[in-house]
Amino acid sequence: MSSPSRTDWFTHARFGMFIHFGLYSVPAYQEWCRTRDRIPDATYHGYMKQFKADRWNPARWAELAARAGMKYSVMTAKHHDGFCLFDSRHTDFKATKAPVGRDLIQDYLAAFRGVGLHAGLYYSLLDWEHPDYALDRIHPRRNDPDWNKPLGVTPEPHRDMTKYRDYMFKQIRELLENYGEIPLMWFDFSFDEKGPEDWDAANLLNLIRSLQPGIVLNSRLDRGHLDIIASKRKYAGDFMTPEQFVPEEGCRDAVGNLVPWESCITLNDNWCYVRDDPNFKTPTQVIRLLVECVSKGGNLLLNVGPTARGDIQPEAVEILTQVGDWMQLHGDSIHGCGHAGLPKPDWGRWTRRGDRLFAHVFNPPTGPLVLVGWGGKIDSATLLADGSCINMSTPWMFKECTSPDAYLTLPAQRALNGHDTVIELKLKVGV
Ligand code: GLC
Repeated sequence: MSSPSRTDWFTHARFGMFIHFGLYSVPAYQEWCRTRDRIPDATYHGYMKQFKADRWNPARWAELAARAGMKYSVMTAKHHDGFCLFDSRHTDFKATKAPVGRDLIQDYLAAFRGVGLHAGLYYSLLDWEHPDYALDRIHPRRNDPDWNKPLGVTPEPHRDMTKYRDYMFKQIRELLENYGEIPLMWFDFSFDEKGPEDWDAANLLNLIRSLQPGIVLNSRLDRGHLDIIASKRKYAGDFMTPEQFVPEEGCRDAVGNLVPWESCITLNDNWCYVRDDPNFKTPTQVIRLLVECVSKGGNLLLNVGPTARGDIQPEAVEILTQVGDWMQLHGDSIHGCGHAGLPKPDWGRWTRRGDRLFAHVFNPPTGPLVLVGWGGKIDSATLLADGSCINMSTPWMFKECTSPDAYLTLPAQRALNGHDTVIELKLKVGV
């Protein structure tokens, strides 16, 4: 599916920040509001006057992401509503024409690169602003009378996808030519009514690879973007994108081998800033979600939706700060780690990097942690959080057992971590 060297940094990074920021942050109830409520163009354009982002300071976001242990980021350069955060020469529907008056993509890239993250871009293939983008069942104008023509009659014949494609190619060229090295591009999305033929995916891929040969691409230029079995689809990109769930066995190819994948998941129930959505995940949920992704050989792209003034919500800051506290001490069991090739244990999950195996203990057992069949295979066991030794001698109640198991005596309650206690096992050579 992909060239291993291109995705090396990506599969090593494991944890990224998704940022949905745009004009929809003003109405603040759904990034699809333009089409969901078929908002008239004039009303939607009117939100531009309120897109002030007067507290815009992406360095704060970048610092939060870096501290949370995130190694990459993806921000909406253009979402389905067509509004551009970058200073495209080909439209006036952009941040530089709003009161904020800045190329937000340029600032974002500088800030996130500044803290060492691989800063990538999201670009919507859909465009509900462009006059040539053909109507379809999810377009804001889907109920307009001229759209509801009998089958076989082309509605709005003046809408010419060739012209839209030209616009889209020019914008993608701008993003890939004017902003230095872009490590990752995240396209959204193909569906039954629009797909590679509409995006001219073959030529688009050629253009992208000619401008940024090392770029990592997601799977959504092609249809079936929610699939978890990698198919031989032509434009499936470098990694799969399950959304709002973690696949049972990770994403695999037809013969069962893991392929690069990334679950994108919201911190509450929405992608953009939704003022009235209080349903945030807990830090424990987020940490276990991340561990689950890594244990299945995948990444977690965790979303934040900043306010129209430019703030990441306090709840999100608090959660990411706590995740960061855990990551400071346990990042070694995440970055560069992957599927351990072992079944999921009762007490939690495994991750592995080479000869280092990490036991993520979510539910400490009563008594020792028994690793069936592991007797004699472990060189040393360490509590990752503090580097202290974990006792591996056989406890009295197992003295009469003859099976070759390993026994880890867990630390006392005070040294357990409520989110996830991690024990690092250094394996003997050849294990
Ligand atoms: C879905 C949503 C879209 C969001 C994307 C992120 O496609 O419709 O708004 O940007 O998921 O994965």
